[in-house]
Amino acid sequence: MVAASAPGKLILFGEHAVVFGEPALSMAIDLRTEVFARPHTEWLADGSSLKDEKYRYVRRAVEMAWKGGPLWLEIRSMIPLGCGLGSSAAVTVATLGVATGLQGGSVQPEVIARNAFDIEHGVQGRASPIDTSTATHGSAILVLKEARDGLLWKMEKGDRHWFIHHRDLPPIRLVIGNTGIAAATGPLVEGVKRRVEEDDRAAAAIAEIGEIALEGLRALGAKDFVRTGELMNRNHDLLNLLGVGHPLLDKFVTAARPYSYGAKLTGAGGGGSMVSLTDDPDRVRAAIEEVGGRAFIVETEPRGLEVRA
Ligand code: PMV
Repeated sequence: MVAASAPGKLILFGEHAVVFGEPALSMAIDLRTEVFARPHTEWLADGSSLKDEKYRYVRRAVEMAWKGGPLWLEIRSMIPLGCGLGSSAAVTVATLGVATGLQGGSVQPEVIARNAFDIEHGVQGRASPIDTSTATHGSAILVLKEARDGLLWKMEKGDRHWFIHHRDLPPIRLVIGNTGIAAATGPLVEGVKRRVEEDDRAAAAIAEIGEIALEGLRALGAKDFVRTGELMNRNHDLLNLLGVGHPLLDKFVTAARPYSYGAKLTGAGGGGSMVSLTDDPDRVRAAIEEVGGRAFIVETEPRGLEVRA
């Protein structure tokens, strides 16, 4: 048997704008998905058929990376599904890792990240490589339009490209507030594209989010949490302008802000989750729960994809 695990992620700055090639900053979080696999007489995922829609990322990953006969797969995940924390990227990366490990191949992170991006792009219709690169590499990822120190790999789709860099962030604890509404990323990404084509203010918001991501990294690196928080708040307003907000996200953000440096939606939005940067995670968690949210505390995760026989 081989097992592989990969972390979830949290986008600190730049979701949606990164799909257009703008800079973005994400970090891996200490919630992981693990996939176990062994050869078997029939295809099984958690004891049922791999044809089930909920296994579409797993199915595409084995189709892409596994050359042998049927597998018995078991998937264990701590990442809540469809709430902007990278559950689909983590399961895709872990499945690609398990398939490589079972075939005795050496795990090359760049190859896994590229294949995982192709799968996510195929399912979503339009995507950036931020989730899949973070799930593969762990730690923190800075996406830029050009190559800088810490370059890991470059990804391309059509006329868009992304240079993916490793970054070290100070260890931070963040509070996630989850709406419990799982909104599909594909239609949200498509909606932003339409808005940008039709409305100059949306196009300007995309560019400003890119600048915020760069300044946000500088502020975080300098441990200037006050400035980081201001930038998170501004990023949240711009995401609302792009039409990916949700009343519950605003409600949780408003509840969290009195005890936070800043708070914003994270991931695709339309439901999903928000994140708060705070010195008092327990207070923020309670504040979000008081207004009806599910909240939990996450930390930076240095480990990316891990495969063990
Ligand atoms: O699918 P989510 O919620 O993890 O969001 C991904 C981030 C987006 O920028 C909205 C899409 C993408 O592919 O980068």
